[in-house]
Amino acid sequence: MSDLLIDLPAVPSGQLSERLDYAEAFVAAPELAARPLADWKMEEGDLPILQYLYRNHRPLRHLEFGTWKGAGTVACLEACAASVWTINLPEGERDQSGEWAYWEGLPEGDHAPKGAVTRQMRNGDWAIQTDARGAIGIKYVEKGLGHRVCQIYCDSRDWDTSAYPAGFFDSCLIDGGHTAEIVRSDLEKAIPLLRRGGLLMLHDFCPVAQVLEACSAPRGVLAAVQDARGLLAESLTDLFWVQPSWLLVGVRR
Ligand SMILES: C[S@@+](CC[C@H](N)C(=O)[O-])C[C@H]1O[C@@H](n2cnc3c(N)ncnc32)[C@H](O)[C@@H]1O
Repeated sequence: MSDLLIDLPAVPSGQLSERLDYAEAFVAAPELAARPLADWKMEEGDLPILQYLYRNHRPLRHLEFGTWKGAGTVACLEACAASVWTINLPEGERDQSGEWAYWEGLPEGDHAPKGAVTRQMRNGDWAIQTDARGAIGIKYVEKGLGHRVCQIYCDSRDWDTSAYPAGFFDSCLIDGGHTAEIVRSDLEKAIPLLRRGGLLMLHDFCPVAQVLEACSAPRGVLAAVQDARGLLAESLTDLFWVQPSWLLVGVRR
């Protein structure tokens, strides 16, 4: 009997090839087998799965909600020939107390040019906001992959999709704001834009009690998925949690 917090299938990452009918098998790094899901890391745990999915699904047009520094976008660009449309708040996300949600300190003496990035003194040291202005997507820019990216700067809830034909995208990763309201809105925008057989991926989905007790983002994503069960059932032929990971994967009907 499953102790997952939602009634959805859990597909072991080693069975992704059978589930999605890919010739290549996914092989997880052996050291991840003992890693508790509450200590999971996107870079080590989920990016290899996303790269595997991109390599085998081979989207030509991919959509990503939530760019941040562009690690997920680079994973797609390097795994296949896709162009990527990706959306981020131009001024970055704030937490409930109004503080920057994503930031990092600068090395001593590096004050970062004013304007290109948002900077401030934090505890006596300079820091930059890593999900605002020129910091958005910096990883794909630094890798010289910007010619394959359409960067959209807005709150995803305000994104006007009317110029995009239905089924325009081959795949979509939802990884922007993590409140249930934003994830639900992102789902409602993404699904009509996905083609039949297109791949839908949600990051920060992990229906395990210890994870939800420790982290707020998966709570919002799980609540949105619960709330959207009717929409998901009518729009997708398959929907499952990749175990172990923080990824939910669906296939468009
Ligand atoms: C978890 S990070 C994205 C990580 C990225 N997908 C990656 O693979 O590296 C979430 C991003 O979503 C952005 N974000 C939060 N709320 C948003 C909203 N309502 N609309 C657009 N972007 C949003 C944040 O600024 C942040 O850069």
